[in-house]
Amino acid sequence: MTIKFILNGEDVAINAEANQRLISILREHFGLTSAKTGCVNGNCGACLVIFNGAVSPSCLIPAFRIQGSEIITLEGFSQTAEYQDIILAFARTAVESCGYCDAGKILSAELLLEQDLHPSKDDFIAAFRGVQCRCTNSEKLYQGILAAGEIRQRRIYGRSL
Ligand code: FES
Ligand code: FES
Repeated sequence: MTIKFILNGEDVAINAEANQRLISILREHFGLTSAKTGCVNGNCGACLVIFNGAVSPSCLIPAFRIQGSEIITLEGFSQTAEYQDIILAFARTAVESCGYCDAGKILSAELLLEQDLHPSKDDFIAAFRGVQCRCTNSEKLYQGILAAGEIRQRRIYGRSL
């Protein structure tokens, strides 16, 4: 089947099997490898993308659901000022990373910050429920996200929270 959708801001069209999963389409058709193959059952978060505005496991999304959708991968998000806010904050707060779950960790951080630049611990825990990270201390990650919110606040409004 022919599938048309928006990928990282560009209109694209591909031929795919109806049940082919988004993660393999991203990797095989577009060479986008930020979404990693982990559990393949929606539990680990290594394959997360932003799908129609929500963080979603690309290993669970079949091709027929992609039709007409808008998808942002970590590769696309990494071209933004918002990405730089998060990366700078994670570096300053020494958030450890092996890179394996960066797509899940960074995209989940972004959607959380879009809702609240100073998220509560409960909101942080809820936002990261779908990301199983072996490397990052949870409290340090929360501090990193608060730091990213501060950096963004200053970048946009020129003042701290
Ligand atoms: S590989 Fe998709 S959630 Fe684990
Ligand atoms: S940064 Fe290594 S698994 Fe998350």
